[in-house]
Amino acid sequence: MSLTPQFLDELRARTSLTSLIAKTVKLTKAGRESKGCCPFHNEKTPSFYVNDDKGFYHCFGCSAHGDAIRWMTDQRGLPFIDAVKELAAAAGLDMPEQDRASTERAERAKGLHEVMADAASWFTEQLHGLPGAEARALLDKRGITADTARAFGMGFAPDSRGKLKAALKEYGDPILVETGMLISVEGKDPYDRFRGRLMIPIRDPRGRTIAFGGRVLDGGEPKYLNSPDTPLFDKGRTLYNLDRAAPAARKSGRVLVVEGYMDVIALAQAGFGEAVAPLGTALTEAQLERLWRMVDVPILCFDGDGAGQKAALRAAHRALPMLAPGRSLSFVTLPQGQDPDDLVRTQGPQAFEALLKTPEPLVDRLWASELAAEALDTPEQRAGLKRRLFELADGIADASVKQEYQSDFKNRFFEHFKPVRAPFVPRGERPKGGWKPAALPVTEDAKAFRATGIDRVLAKAVLAGLIRHPVEIARHMEVLGPLQLIDGALGRLFEAVVDLALEDQKLDSGRLLTILARSGFNSVASDLLRADTMPYSFTQTTADPVRVRADLDEAIAIMVARPEVDAALKQATVAMQTHFTESAFERQVALVREKQALEVRLANLVQSNEDARALGTEGD
Ligand code: UTP
Ligand code: MN
Repeated sequence: MSLTPQFLDELRARTSLTSLIAKTVKLTKAGRESKGCCPFHNEKTPSFYVNDDKGFYHCFGCSAHGDAIRWMTDQRGLPFIDAVKELAAAAGLDMPEQDRASTERAERAKGLHEVMADAASWFTEQLHGLPGAEARALLDKRGITADTARAFGMGFAPDSRGKLKAALKEYGDPILVETGMLISVEGKDPYDRFRGRLMIPIRDPRGRTIAFGGRVLDGGEPKYLNSPDTPLFDKGRTLYNLDRAAPAARKSGRVLVVEGYMDVIALAQAGFGEAVAPLGTALTEAQLERLWRMVDVPILCFDGDGAGQKAALRAAHRALPMLAPGRSLSFVTLPQGQDPDDLVRTQGPQAFEALLKTPEPLVDRLWASELAAEALDTPEQRAGLKRRLFELADGIADASVKQEYQSDFKNRFFEHFKPVRAPFVPRGERPKGGWKPAALPVTEDAKAFRATGIDRVLAKAVLAGLIRHPVEIARHMEVLGPLQLIDGALGRLFEAVVDLALEDQKLDSGRLLTILARSGFNSVASDLLRADTMPYSFTQTTADPVRVRADLDEAIAIMVARPEVDAALKQATVAMQTHFTESAFERQVALVREKQALEVRLANLVQSNEDARALGTEGD
């Protein structure tokens, strides 16, 4: 079929989008547009707008966006070509003549799709049957449930050169070779491509299997074998799991890009259905376009290792020419040595959710990487940085975004290299002979900052926990005693509680409260005990004592460590601004990681997702 852009334009021009949409959505006039309740997400007040002049609909709630054809594919669920046919019929337009070759191609594609569907169900049968025992054990070991395996159509290819070929023999070798299911080598009979592998079907946006990724069961090489590009499968234009992620993204308002199949699958099982992955290659322009059709700012969640970070940077550079107002990328760096699959498996969904809360904007990522790229000790080197930044901004096609980047980079450059005043250092600790960046590492120097650094929300929770479980105080006396807390009623109460427990090691919660009441702490303390809304085991009445003890230990450790890391980070940043060196930069990066790790640990203490959210809003 040869559908020219001219034909499609004509079709759009002849279609009244408002009347088309009004067939299914109740629309009311609002200025030059019409509005109604969005059919793509649940809402009670209208945020879905249709603009006939522009020929577009847009939902300000879920960002669903498109023209008449898109409406037919996304809302009505029609294949593209059927959508065009139906609109053409309604508009009284004849479809362009189909040439013979394209008819044949369409017929052939239909056949290829059937092959892939049959192959997928045969692999699934193998997985759940006798030959699949070892593969099922692998899934088990990885914590993938049978439901998840089924939802993703996972299968198993037995270790044989001819079993799939035999199972699909009615199709004949040529089409099995064309779909990539058989390998054809000169002088040999075509044989099964995938042997002894866990099979992961790769689906197109309509959910049809178009290729496979096959994972070895043991440590063999290559770890993944993928289908070659075929008439159905174009690796650079495909995103794994796009068909399932798109509707999930509409609900959550975000799209996550991860590196591997298993990450996508594990995340879906952990409740993050909106994840996709490229297929073992760097993100292409076509893939970026697809992502931006779902949300304005997809989140790239890449490993903290060199390869992952390189891939992230590559995507950042590739995105530049394609940026538009509002349209960007953001980045989440996984803790060293872990991918999203490892993280949710070992630390639970909250740990991942915590990382997603503060993704790094594209501009920060670019700035940081240029800053770290070369030494900046001489004027020439600094001019080099300036030029690199200028070149980056110059790569942005959109004029207004380009301008913003230019002025943003300029400001950062100025801020970074302007002379800085030394931070306050207490008298006794000032080195003789002028100020130098304080020697790192942390603890001693950081203490100066500590008094202001304690997080009130966390301190409150810990205090509530200690009042409930006074016997735990003794074990923490060493850190709690000398700790300079916050000021105000909370700080005084903290001190009083610790003092009382110090006097009477067998103090129970009831007696503690009585004494506190007598000392005038009644209202603050009872306020804390109503703290069942705080999401920790130790702030709740019914909780397993072993868990309470462990969680309380962890919370106190985090409470103490956080201000230290913050202070060290502050110093490292100052030190780096004063004198940028590779090692100062590395130290800063390491501290940022440490800070993130603490956030993850804290998030892990939270008892459920619901509560994590409540805490998040209170905490910042
Ligand atoms: P990873 O090695 O990170 O894969 O490669 P993974 O998904 O985390 O796999 P597990 O956890 O070890 O099972 C990331 C992606 O790179 C591609 C695959 O798409 C994989 O999901 N890849 C990797 C290949 O195509 N071939 C390979 O040999 C390795
Ligand atoms: Mn992995």
